[in-house]
Amino acid sequence: MKTRNYLLPVAAAGVLALSLSACAGGGGGGGGTTGGGGGDAAANLDGRGPITYVQGKDNSNVVRPLIEKWNAAHPNEKVTFKEQTDQADQQHDDLVQNFQAKNANYDVVSVDVVWTAEFAAKGWLQPLKDKMALDTAGMLKPTLDAASYKGTLYAAPESSDGGILYYRKDLVPTPPKTWDEMMGMCSIAKAKNMGCYAGQFSKYEGLTVNASEAINSFGGSVLDKDGKPSLNTEEAKTGLANLAKAYADGNIPKEAITYKEEESRQAFQDGKLLFLRNWPYVYNLATTEGSSKVKNVLGMTALPGKDGPGASSLGGHSAGMSVYSKNKATALDFLKFLTTEETQKFFATQGSLAPVLTKLYDDKELVAKLPYLPVLKTSIENAVPRPVTPFYPAVTKAIQDNAYPAIKGEKAVDAALSDMQKSIETQSK
Ligand code: GLC
Repeated sequence: MKTRNYLLPVAAAGVLALSLSACAGGGGGGGGTTGGGGGDAAANLDGRGPITYVQGKDNSNVVRPLIEKWNAAHPNEKVTFKEQTDQADQQHDDLVQNFQAKNANYDVVSVDVVWTAEFAAKGWLQPLKDKMALDTAGMLKPTLDAASYKGTLYAAPESSDGGILYYRKDLVPTPPKTWDEMMGMCSIAKAKNMGCYAGQFSKYEGLTVNASEAINSFGGSVLDKDGKPSLNTEEAKTGLANLAKAYADGNIPKEAITYKEEESRQAFQDGKLLFLRNWPYVYNLATTEGSSKVKNVLGMTALPGKDGPGASSLGGHSAGMSVYSKNKATALDFLKFLTTEETQKFFATQGSLAPVLTKLYDDKELVAKLPYLPVLKTSIENAVPRPVTPFYPAVTKAIQDNAYPAIKGEKAVDAALSDMQKSIETQSK
C-alpha cells in the first residue's frame, strides 16, 4: 500500500508529518539525523573557526553592522556575509545548489519558513538537539513550529513576518477593515490620480503569499485540516476573484503584476499607492529614507478580510546550520547570538523586523518606538502557514502558475483553482 503524502498546515505537522517520510524525495532519511543523502550530522560538532552566513538581500541594512559586532568579539571565528538576491525563489535555488554540492562554506543559511521541511527531509540541516540544542524558551510558537520538522528543531528562529496593510493616514482617516470597504475607498485614490492597492503579484513566492491571503481572508483555505488541498470552494473562488476583479478594474494598478516586495514598497513610498500589503520591514525604510513621501502619513493596520480583519500568510526566516559545515561549534554560537534579546531588539529598532521573542511585543520602550507592534503580533498569531511539505517547490509552483493568469484575467478563476487543486493533489500522491 502506498503511503499517502498529505501536506501539512504547520499546526498539524507534529501529528501527521510521519506520512511524508516514506517519500522524502531524492536525498535524506526522514529526520535528517544521519544524513542519508545529506551530510554527517555527527561530524565537526566541536569545530571552531571562520564561517559564512548566507542570506537574501539585506534590505534593512542590519546584517553587516551585526556581523561587525560579532567579528570584533570573535577575531578567530569571524563571520563572512554572503548576500543573495532579494527574490525568495532565487535564494532557495542557490541554497539547494550549494547543499547538493555539499559546500562546506555555506555554514549558516537563512531558511524561509516554507523551506524547513524540504531542507530537513533532505538531511541538509543540522538538527538543533542534544549537544547542538538551542534555548527556545520565550520564542513565539509559530516561529518555532516553522523552524521544526517532525518535532525536531532544525533552525533558529531569526525573524518572523506577518502581512500588514499600509495606508495613507492623510487620505484615509479610518482604515478599512474589510476588502469591500477598501475597494470602496479606491475612489479616493482615483481622485488623487494614484493607484489604489498593491501587494506582490509577480510570479514568485510572494504571489503564493498574496493569493493564499486572498483565499484565507475570505474563509477559504489552500489545505483543509487534514492537509488535503481544498481549493474548489466558493470561499477560495471569491478570494482569488477579488484580486482578479481589482486588477481588471484598475483598483490594482497594471504595473503591480510585476511587483515583488521592493517594487511595491517603492511605489508606496513614492506616493503612487493608497494601500499596500507588505511585511513589517517597510516601516523602517518608509519612515527613514530621504526620498520617502509617506514618512509622516504612514498608517498600519490588519489586512482586510470578508467581514473583518483577514488572515496573513505566516512569513519569516530561521538560521539553519549546514550539516556540511566544518565549524559547527562556532555556527551554534552564532545562531544563539542571532536570537539574543539584544540582537532581536536591534533587528526591531534598526530594521523594523518582527521579533521572535514573545515578550518584545509587550516591551513598553519598544512599543513606544514601534507603535505597530501589537498589530504585528496579532497578524503573526493569526497567520496561516503555507503548506508544510518536502515538496513545497512543486506546491508553490502550482499556486503561482495558476494564480498569475487568473489575476491577469487570462484564465477563469474556477479553472485556475481546480488546476491548482489537481496539481497539488499530484504532489501529495
Ligand atoms: C518574506 C517572508 C517569507 C516569504 C517571502 C515571499 O521574506 O518572510 O516567508 O516567503 O517574503 O516573498
